[in-house]
Amino acid sequence: TTNRTFTMIKPDAVENGHIGGILEKITSAGFKIVAMKYTQLSTRDAQEFYAVHSERPFYGELVEFMSRGPIVAAILEKDNAVEDFRALIGATNPAEAAEGTIRKLFASNIAENAVHGSDSDENAAIEGAFHFSGREIF
Ligand code: CMP
Repeated sequence: TTNRTFTMIKPDAVENGHIGGILEKITSAGFKIVAMKYTQLSTRDAQEFYAVHSERPFYGELVEFMSRGPIVAAILEKDNAVEDFRALIGATNPAEAAEGTIRKLFASNIAENAVHGSDSDENAAIEGAFHFSGREIF
């Protein structure tokens, strides 16, 4: 699982027609897509996926947002994947994200910020396993 990260193209970016633009940024940056699906989180899926944030004031809003429409979930492979992907997507708040980052280009605001990127190798493995079986990873 090292050298892999997990991402989701969030409902806002799907609604705004940015699936293609975001995948282009990801593959152009040297990430190989080893698993990918178009899917939708149930309320319970979103509660479980974001359980680490359950005490945050924005948890309810986050669960509602992440389950309101389809997402693209993917596992990405590259040397130094977790760190390099977080650099590619930019700061959580798109207003603070660097020029050329995915969130600067495609995100709406701090809550609806277009993409997810795992924050550690351990979480990348957990989050990837949440969405994909071994047979779906190539
Ligand atoms: P991400 O960092 O991928 O995972 C946690 C998510 O919570 C974050 O993206 C945003 O979608 C959301 N989030 C973070 N901070 C806030 C906030 N202040 N208000 C609302 N949502 C937030």
